[in-house]
Amino acid sequence: MKRDIIAGNWKMNNNNAQTKELIKQIAPLVKDAKCEVVVCVPFTDLDTARRAIRGTNIKLGAQNVHWAPKGAFTGEISADMLLEQKVEYVIVGHSERRQYFGETDASVNARTKAAIAAGLKVIVCIGELLEERETGKTAEVVIRQINGAMAGIEKADLKKIVVAYEPVWAIGTGRTATPQDANDTIAIIRKAVRKLYGKTAANALRIQYGGSMNAKNASELMAMPEIDGGLIGGASLKAEDFAKVVNY
Ligand code: 13P
Repeated sequence: MKRDIIAGNWKMNNNNAQTKELIKQIAPLVKDAKCEVVVCVPFTDLDTARRAIRGTNIKLGAQNVHWAPKGAFTGEISADMLLEQKVEYVIVGHSERRQYFGETDASVNARTKAAIAAGLKVIVCIGELLEERETGKTAEVVIRQINGAMAGIEKADLKKIVVAYEPVWAIGTGRTATPQDANDTIAIIRKAVRKLYGKTAANALRIQYGGSMNAKNASELMAMPEIDGGLIGGASLKAEDFAKVVNY
């Protein structure tokens, strides 16, 4: 398996026609990528994206999953529903979900467990708020979030998880964490994972950086030893920009 993983998080962007076109543009530009390439698209674009990525090295991802297999959960989507769409990866616990939709460490954990049990791979997002960074709480926050997300998850399932460290103050703001800062915080996260699962499993865990990562700064971020990939928002919506990140 390729170690580094670059995933586009399209968020709530692109209709079916735009999805088809964007993937058509991205595919030839990333075909020789030395990392895994994923696009996490809105639910309503999954079918279109699934067809568009056929025969390419691009993998399909979704942006959320519910913890129950089915039932009275209006507006939610189950892991089996995603699998039926041939989804391989799902983002869980994005800061926008934490901020606007009441996602908590406990719900992130429940969604992650359900996704893994069903056979999906999960991109678990964690990251501190600006206020937390400015008051010196970054380590405390990311350790709490990683412990919360991993609660009750078996060591054997760790290989189905990718962690995305996304400092909230760097998302969509054009303000990127310095490569050193990103590296240092990811090292703190990895140390917490080591406490839970031991050194080998922690070293094997892939941890992405996310937050205003783009064509210009990808190579210096990816050069850092702790950073195993990126979760890309804005820059994943333009084929050339996304390809430049993928080909860091
Ligand atoms: P931007 O790349 O737009 O800052 O978004 C990052 C992000 O939230 C990816 O999940």
